[in-house]
Amino acid sequence: MWNRYHAAMEADRKWWERGVVYQIYPRSFSDSTGNGIGDLEGIRQKLPYLSDVLGIDAIWLSPFYPSPQKDFGYDVSDYVDVDPEYGTLEDFDRLVADFHAVGIRVIVDFVPNHSSDQHPWFIESASSRANEKRDWYVWADGKPDGAEPNNWLSLFGGKAWEWHGPTGQYYLHTFLKEQPDLNWRNSELEAAMFDVLRFWMDRGVDGFRIDVAHYVVKDPELRDNPLADPDAPSDHFKPMGEFETLNHIYSKAHPDIHPLYQRLRAVVDEYDDRYTIGEAHITDLEEWASYFGANLDELHQPFHFALLSKATDRESVRAVVAGQEAILPDGAWPNYVIGNHDEPRVAKRYGEDSIRRLAVLLLTLRGTVTMYYGDELGMLEGVELGLDPWGVNLEGVSRDGCRTPMQWTPDGGFSTSAETWLPMGPDLKNRNVETELADPGSVLNLYRRLLAVRKSSEALTVGDYHEVESANDDVLMYERVAGEERVIVGVSFADSSVAVAVTGEVLVSTDLRDGHADGSWTIEPHGAVVIRG
Ligand code: GLC
Repeated sequence: MWNRYHAAMEADRKWWERGVVYQIYPRSFSDSTGNGIGDLEGIRQKLPYLSDVLGIDAIWLSPFYPSPQKDFGYDVSDYVDVDPEYGTLEDFDRLVADFHAVGIRVIVDFVPNHSSDQHPWFIESASSRANEKRDWYVWADGKPDGAEPNNWLSLFGGKAWEWHGPTGQYYLHTFLKEQPDLNWRNSELEAAMFDVLRFWMDRGVDGFRIDVAHYVVKDPELRDNPLADPDAPSDHFKPMGEFETLNHIYSKAHPDIHPLYQRLRAVVDEYDDRYTIGEAHITDLEEWASYFGANLDELHQPFHFALLSKATDRESVRAVVAGQEAILPDGAWPNYVIGNHDEPRVAKRYGEDSIRRLAVLLLTLRGTVTMYYGDELGMLEGVELGLDPWGVNLEGVSRDGCRTPMQWTPDGGFSTSAETWLPMGPDLKNRNVETELADPGSVLNLYRRLLAVRKSSEALTVGDYHEVESANDDVLMYERVAGEERVIVGVSFADSSVAVAVTGEVLVSTDLRDGHADGSWTIEPHGAVVIRG
């Protein structure tokens, strides 16, 4: 199983394969100006926390580009600048230089599916049918009776088409009407967007998280989507309303998307050692895996989102891991994520009991880890305030609650202003960096221990993954192996204590007990343990 070839492969593993990526929602991380909104300089000032307290390997910044903020930055009105709310390009350069100086990579968001309707490209495109940028967006005539060109629906509710009176056509918007879809079938648009990638790589950016990567190319004939088969598995785990009535085969993921990602990859490969990870909510694993490219020549990784909704019990988690491991093309590397800026906080999805065991699971599975800011504190879901436009259009999907400001101190510590853009989350008093650092048994100290143990272990960073027989139906057991090193993990979904049969030094236990397991170790209810075998 282990041979020289294998060992060489592991030594060669890329930074993004070994590393832990930490997602920052810039609006909510740290406010250096006192206006209640986070900014780039605030993030830069928190470098010691990220490098010394946590020890993560890369940050991913959600959009900080100029934007009318209709979708809080995912409506970009200039792809190559910084919104004054978040700072300046000089602030960005300073941030990159400081992070690079301590070996932390910087990944930025790339939003290719749509721009803001305030982007100069769209303003030009909408100015006349003859404008040279008309074709940079998706325009179409209405039906003879004036109805929309087809039956496509917006993910954020309602039709995906908006009538534009002055030029007498509809334009496509997969999201808000203020987020018109770009037309990637136009080669000038493609070239302009590829230059955006070069612009940021020239500034030192190490990679891109690609927004709704699978939506970018549509059916050129704009055919009607067929009705959904109500028994087919959904790619969504939120209540999507009317959107769920159609099977969106023509409005996303046209096969031409693959040559596009090959060309995009070639642009990224003009630079050394860069990384792309695409947002791809795709349940069908074969289709999901197609985004690596037939020759691993498309995205470095499509996000594997299954643990956002399926980390409920041993069998589900087992199936998720086995599924990804089995479908992964040769040479590709898995990835996992348990929270992001679009999903309710972990405690809301799985219960507070799950916070610790899921931390262990995330940081010990084989694959790139993406952590969401605040999850390392066990931050709870905040209240819905009616700011997230998706939540305004549709019940039960608001993302306000997972975007509350980072909790630095018992008083907040996010901003000097009492009025923050979203109020601080619940349980601020106990769940904040200052308080948790002082408490040896805190969630933060569990994450710190896990991050440190992972970094110091070849088995945990790059080792093989094998399931291990578990005597208890509620405990998932697996091992990670690299050369002589073997680490055994037990993750319990039981609500009482369970003894597992293991021997070795305890590297991490969810209750932060140290010790040695001599044939048996008792995992606390909902807990987990990591043992050097
Ligand atoms: C992605 C982003 C989400 C955004 C949407 C539209 O799903 O993660 O936050 O609203 O795309 O850009």
